[in-house]
Amino acid sequence: MTTAARQGPPQQIVLVGLSGVGKSTIGKALAERLGWPFLDTDEMVLKREGRTAAAVIIERGEPEFRRVEELTVMEAAKQVPAVIATGGGVILSPGNRRTLGERGFIVYLDATPTEIANRVPTEGQPVRPLVDGDMERKLRDLDEDRRPYYNHADLWVPVMGGAAQLEETRDRAVARILSAWATDAAELMARPRRLERLSSAEPARGPAALVDTGTQRYPIWVAPGELRRLPDRLQQIGLAGRRVFLVSDTNVMEAHGRTVAEVLDTAGIAGASYVIPAGEASKTQRMAAELYRWLAAERAERRDVILALGGGVVGDLAGYVAATYLRGMPFVQLPTSVLAMNDAAIGGKVAVDLPEGKNLVGAFHQPAAVLSDVSVLSTLPRRMHVEGFAEVIKHAFILDPGLLDTLEANARSLANATADPELMADVIGRSSRLKALIVSSDPQERGIRAILNYGHTIGHAIEQSTGYSEYMHGEAVAIGMMGAARISVEMGLLDPTVVDRQSDLLRSFGLPLVAPGMNVRAVLEAMQRDKKVEQGQMRFVLLEGVGRTTVRADVPSDLVSRTVQQLARG
Ligand SMILES: NC(=O)c1ccc[n+]([C@@H]2O[C@H](COP(=O)([O-])OP(=O)(O)OC[C@H]3O[C@@H](n4cnc5c(N)ncnc54)[C@H](O)[C@@H]3O)[C@@H](O)[C@H]2O)c1
Ligand SMILES: [Zn+2]
Repeated sequence: MTTAARQGPPQQIVLVGLSGVGKSTIGKALAERLGWPFLDTDEMVLKREGRTAAAVIIERGEPEFRRVEELTVMEAAKQVPAVIATGGGVILSPGNRRTLGERGFIVYLDATPTEIANRVPTEGQPVRPLVDGDMERKLRDLDEDRRPYYNHADLWVPVMGGAAQLEETRDRAVARILSAWATDAAELMARPRRLERLSSAEPARGPAALVDTGTQRYPIWVAPGELRRLPDRLQQIGLAGRRVFLVSDTNVMEAHGRTVAEVLDTAGIAGASYVIPAGEASKTQRMAAELYRWLAAERAERRDVILALGGGVVGDLAGYVAATYLRGMPFVQLPTSVLAMNDAAIGGKVAVDLPEGKNLVGAFHQPAAVLSDVSVLSTLPRRMHVEGFAEVIKHAFILDPGLLDTLEANARSLANATADPELMADVIGRSSRLKALIVSSDPQERGIRAILNYGHTIGHAIEQSTGYSEYMHGEAVAIGMMGAARISVEMGLLDPTVVDRQSDLLRSFGLPLVAPGMNVRAVLEAMQRDKKVEQGQMRFVLLEGVGRTTVRADVPSDLVSRTVQQLARG
């Protein structure tokens, strides 16, 4: 243990993040809980200059404001103990980062610009000059510029919950921060070269996303060639020197098994591999039992690592085995399909199927890391490649207008896997970050995680009623998204132009918009059956705009049948 760790928790907590994310509210709550004073650098500027930060910027320009801010930061950093909320741009300066990092445990509060813009502005709040006007768009620009610097923080805390659950979300953030502060802040702050990294002019070079469930924290790396970095990544997450047990399927092993074997060999990592037949039919208890017996024969130990190299089938099955063998082993997701990279590999839901239904037996077991190597997508069959993008498009419509713009501008090249690998990594990285943010905000699926079911109420019913044979999951979800968007318009929630944007985008990826000839009765029945699981109410995730969702249990049943009929007419 390091000196700092022995000294106990740090006596200063510094909050950084976009304007409006909740730094003051959360900061005040923290200060109250700890019995520490609360400082707000913007308020300190007001005291020092006799005018608001906004007024200083308007009257004297931003450079002069930044100078004043720097002096303020130096003053704040001297106060111990204290909770310090910083103005949104404080952390941009390497000098400020170093000053605050000396004693402060730096916490990054993260929510999407759209969520922040959707929160009703509180009465009596001072005007925030940098986010005035088209607030959402400005916040998006600020987010893009600043995120790499916010990522220098010691701790990342998601603050997503929808405008309706603002208070709960903030309470949860406070609890998270206090728990991390008490347990591992000292250690996080004692990491080698921390201050050096903090004060370097470079943006943070971290993973594309993090998941933090409050009890577990793990990185998601997304890049071309990521598989070649596997030994380094294992080292980074503290899993070096263990044996690895690689699970893959026949297709993926044929295309990429060699690369992975070479990489592990070269690094001198010992282990074994097991190849299952490709396809959903392998996601069974029987196959899990085969894997248990293989692990037993290989004398796998609890400290060893399971590697899941493949699509969602391999990830779900190997994850389920990792959750249960020896009461839980660490595992790393190496997703190879678009769907697995954007969806299945993130969030810790692992399962196998029963003849009675899909994913009926499972667990929540988070991976130790997710490594998405976008170069492997070149061998993914086209239909599966396209299908996976339905979830990416879903993420854009429910959460991120910026991602939507990028998808619209690059649909053809992304759909054909001819896109520049860096663009592919950027898009998959952003989409992964959205899933990670939602999962981190709601790890047990009690609240906001429900919005990920956009398009799934009808989508699942289509899959079920066709025996999972006609439509792939993403295709059914695309059709379901069209249904949900039309319902949103009919209920007076959504501007019809958004539906057109959605259909244009789905079409340009080659995804279906309708299911001509599908059995309407069977679909409606399947939805009814699902409804029982959901406490007797048929719940729809509806859109109020791009990035704005609402979960409704009051969609009239005749509107539902009309919508499904429309989808079936084609
Ligand atoms: N855990 C979750 O949260 C979650 C979320 C969504 C879906 N899922 C599950 O994911 C599964 C579907 O995932 P999927 O679509 O990846 O299915 P999959 O794993 O069956 O992969 C699809 C096909 O593509 C092949 N393949 C995958 N990567 C390849 C590559 N790079 N090159 C060549 N071939 C490749 C596979 O061998 C398979 O034939 C379902 O079982 C579903 O229940 C889980
Ligand atoms: Zn899905």
